[in-house]
Amino acid sequence: MILRQQAEFQFAEELENLKKTDKQKRPPNWQLSPSAVLTYLTGGKLSNGFEVSAKYIGNKRLMEIAIATLTTDRALLLYGLPGTAKSWVSEHLSAAISGVSTLLIQGTAGTSEESVRYGWNYARLLSEGPSEAALVSTPVMKAMKEGKLCRIEELTRMGSDVQDTLITILSEKMLPIPELGTEIQAIEGFNIIATANNRDKGINELSGALKRRFNTVILPVPESIEEEVEIVHTRVKEMNSHIELPDCFSLTYDIERVVIIFRELRSGIANGKTIIKIPSSTMSPAEAISVVNSGLALSAHFGNGELTAKDLAAGLIGAVVKDPVHDKLVWNEYLETALKGRSMWQDLYNACKELE
Ligand SMILES: Nc1ncnc2c1ncn2[C@@H]1O[C@H](COP(=O)(O)OP(=O)(O)O)[C@@H](O)[C@H]1O
Ligand SMILES: [Mg+2]
Repeated sequence: MILRQQAEFQFAEELENLKKTDKQKRPPNWQLSPSAVLTYLTGGKLSNGFEVSAKYIGNKRLMEIAIATLTTDRALLLYGLPGTAKSWVSEHLSAAISGVSTLLIQGTAGTSEESVRYGWNYARLLSEGPSEAALVSTPVMKAMKEGKLCRIEELTRMGSDVQDTLITILSEKMLPIPELGTEIQAIEGFNIIATANNRDKGINELSGALKRRFNTVILPVPESIEEEVEIVHTRVKEMNSHIELPDCFSLTYDIERVVIIFRELRSGIANGKTIIKIPSSTMSPAEAISVVNSGLALSAHFGNGELTAKDLAAGLIGAVVKDPVHDKLVWNEYLETALKGRSMWQDLYNACKELE
């Protein structure tokens, strides 16, 4: 079995049922109507009784704006802190709208123009000269030809010159190939979903010209504790189907504790009033998920299957203390001012102290 299935395969049954019950009009080359895409993302019951799970937990309006944007000639930029489901939403949007989520370019400092526009198969280029067959196409090019969505991850990590190759593609909806004297014309259904991390701000800021081609949707950290607990709980259950989970009540209790710690450190306020220092690490739902996951792995393989404070402590410290000096201070202060006083949390406080 493969390690991680793409959304379109993992949720094939949901997508199939959505397609069957979808009575609304679909934009050209869309697999589903916008309202069915929304149901796929935020969950709900279909007219045939089928239950669709929620992929995105949070403000529904944001998903409506994201989907609506993709029906226009503007591209979509999902922006926010690391771990706020930007990649996750982008994958599910592509799966629901185009049926594929794998037309993807990962933006890095080393991403070249060739991986955005097209490259050449040099052996063929030398033997045959420039020809259609010697061209190496990219996910953008495929998406343009097939009328699908192309995903660009971490757009602002790519150099500005590489980012700007998207301007013609987005404004003219075509990609010139001067070597062949031709161009690729995008067909209906083509669009781009990019993600960018606001921790990368200022590294390769989007140019004004490119910014105008995007509608930005900011994905926030979860508003309420309940929402954040639900996000962590849902994902933890999904990701640990291979081990026996502790009973639901105690798992929820531990997830709540992790989420409370994360929210306090993120906001710089403990117990609703005490001002505390904020660590350099990102205290996102994604990090909370991995703290609980690693705790569960420890308890399943080296404990008795019950999630103990000791199992959580190691992951917690790992998530908070990313900088050995600053974060260590922050964490110690937090232990003493916030955790120590909580009578029900002595186990966690002691487990954390022991690991020092
Ligand atoms: N609001 C949310 N709803 C559902 N899942 C969420 C939410 N926020 C975070 N997650 C979870 O966090 C994980 C990491 O999100 P990811 O998309 O990789 O973050 P990034 O914003 O850095 O791209 C995903 O597995 C996702 O399930
Ligand atoms: Mg991401």
